Amino acid sequence: MKKILLIDDEHSLVRTLELYFQSKGYLVLAAFDAREGLELWREHDPDLVLLDVQLPGMDGTQALAAAKDENLSGDVIMITAFQDMEATLAAIQRGAADYLYKPLDLDALDVLLEKILMRRREREKIERLSHVISESFKPNQIIGKSNATLEVLKDIARVALTPVTVLIEGDTGAGKELVARTIHQQWAPLEPFVAINCAAVVSNLLESELFGHERGAFTGAVQRKPGKLEIAGSGTVFLDEVGELPLEIQAKFLRVLQEKQFQSVGGVKDIPFKARLLAATNRNLESMVQAGSFREDLYFRLKVFVIRIPPLRERPEDIVPLAENFVSRMNRELNRNVTRIPMEYIRTLKAYDWPGNVRELENVLRRALILSTSDVLELDECWFQRSKAVPAPSSACEQSDELKSLNCVEKEHILKILKHTGGNYGEACKILGVTRPTLRKKIKDYGLKEYLVDL
Ligand SMILES: Nc1ncnc2c1ncn2[C@@H]1O[C@H](COP(=O)(O)OP(=O)(O)OP(=O)(O)O)[C@@H](O)[C@H]1O
Ligand SMILES: [Mg+2]
Repeated sequence: MKKILLIDDEHSLVRTLELYFQSKGYLVLAAFDAREGLELWREHDPDLVLLDVQLPGMDGTQALAAAKDENLSGDVIMITAFQDMEATLAAIQRGAADYLYKPLDLDALDVLLEKILMRRREREKIERLSHVISESFKPNQIIGKSNATLEVLKDIARVALTPVTVLIEGDTGAGKELVARTIHQQWAPLEPFVAINCAAVVSNLLESELFGHERGAFTGAVQRKPGKLEIAGSGTVFLDEVGELPLEIQAKFLRVLQEKQFQSVGGVKDIPFKARLLAATNRNLESMVQAGSFREDLYFRLKVFVIRIPPLRERPEDIVPLAENFVSRMNRELNRNVTRIPMEYIRTLKAYDWPGNVRELENVLRRALILSTSDVLELDECWFQRSKAVPAPSSACEQSDELKSLNCVEKEHILKILKHTGGNYGEACKILGVTRPTLRKKIKDYGLKEYLVDL
C-alpha cells in the first residue's frame, strides 16, 4: 500500500485530504507542524508528501531542505498560497516535485498525482534498465565456456572465501589480474585491492613501495609514506609478476608471511599485515627455484593453492563468447552497432594461436570495430590475411586414423607444412622437396587453394 504524509497546520484541510487519500487506498499519516512531520517522514518512508509552505515555526521550504539533506524518501508536493510563490519556486529548485494552490482543488490534485505516478514509473524503469546493463556488462566478469575456464571458475569458488594465498599462473594477457580481482570481489569487496607490479618498479624503490618508509629514512623521504601492505588493510595485496621480486626483498617478504607483521623502511614499530595475498607469474617459478633465482621457502608459501590459466589457443571454445562480449561492450564504447560476425572470421579467430591471449583478442576486435561501417564486423584485412584459417590437418581427410590412403596422408602433410610456413609457397617446396609446379598441382588436385594465402 502506498503511504502519504500530510504536513499542514490547517486541520480541516488535513481532514479533507485524509478522507480523499483513504478513499484511494493510501495509508495516510498527518502532522500539523514541520518538526512532527519530519519525524514521521524519517520513520515511515512515505511515497508522497504534501507539504504546506506556511507552517508555524520551521516553514515548509526549510523542512524540505532538511529532508533533502537527510535523503528522505518520497515525491514532495508543496501546498502554497499566491503570495508565497517565491518560496514555492525555491522549493521546486530544491527538489520538490510540484505545487498546488490553496484553496485545494481535488481535480487538480488528481491530475498532479497521475503525473507524478507516471514520472515515478519512468524513473523506476530507467533504474531497472541501468541495473540490468551494469549487471550484464560488469567489466570484471570472467567470460568463457571451455572446460579450462570452468575449472578456473571452480577453483576461484573454492578459494575465494578462505584467506589462503593463491598463486595464479598464466601467459601474458591470459587473465591473471582478472582472476585476482574476481577472488578479491568475493572475498572482501569493500576493502582495498592493491596491486604491485614487481617488474615495473625499480628494485631500490620496491622495498619502500611495499613496506612504506618513515620520514628521513633516506634522502628525499620528506614525510612518512605508508606502503602497499599497509594501504591494503584487510583487503588484498596482488603481487603481480612475483618472479621479478629481487632476492633480498623475497627474504623480507617471507618474514611478513611468517610473522604477519612488518616494519617500514627506517621504522621500528611493528605494523600488522592483515591483508590477503594473491600472486601472479608468467614465469616458471619452479625452474627459477632450481636456478637459484627464487627462494624455495617463499615459493612453497605462495603455492598453497595454484590456479593455472591455460593460453587462449588451448581453449578455442572461449573465443566466441569472449568475442560476443567484447563486441557488445565496445559497441557502446565506440558508438558502433555491430551485430554480426561472419562465420569465416570466427573460423579464423579460432584457428589463430593468440600469443598475446585474451588481451590480443580484445585489441584485434577493437581495431575491427573501429573499421566496421555496417552491422557486420570487418576484421583488419591485413591481420585477417596473415592469420587466415588453415584447417587442422586432421580435418582435411575424413578417413579414420589407421586406415588412411596414401593420398589422404599426403594431403594432410601438405596442409601441415603450409600451416607451418604460414602459406609461404617457396619455403613449403623446400621442406617437402618438390618443385613449385608439383606443389601447385597437388594443391589444385586436393582442393587446398581456399585455405592458402600468398600463393
Ligand atoms: N576470461 C576472460 N573474460 C573476459 N575478459 C578477459 C578474460 N581473460 C582476460 N580478459 C581481459 O583481457 C585483458 C588481459 O587480462 P589480464 O590483465 O587479467 O591479463 P594478465 O594475465 O594479468 O596479463 P599480463 O601478464 O600481461 O599482466 C583484460 O582486459 C581482461 O579484462
Ligand atoms: Mg597482469
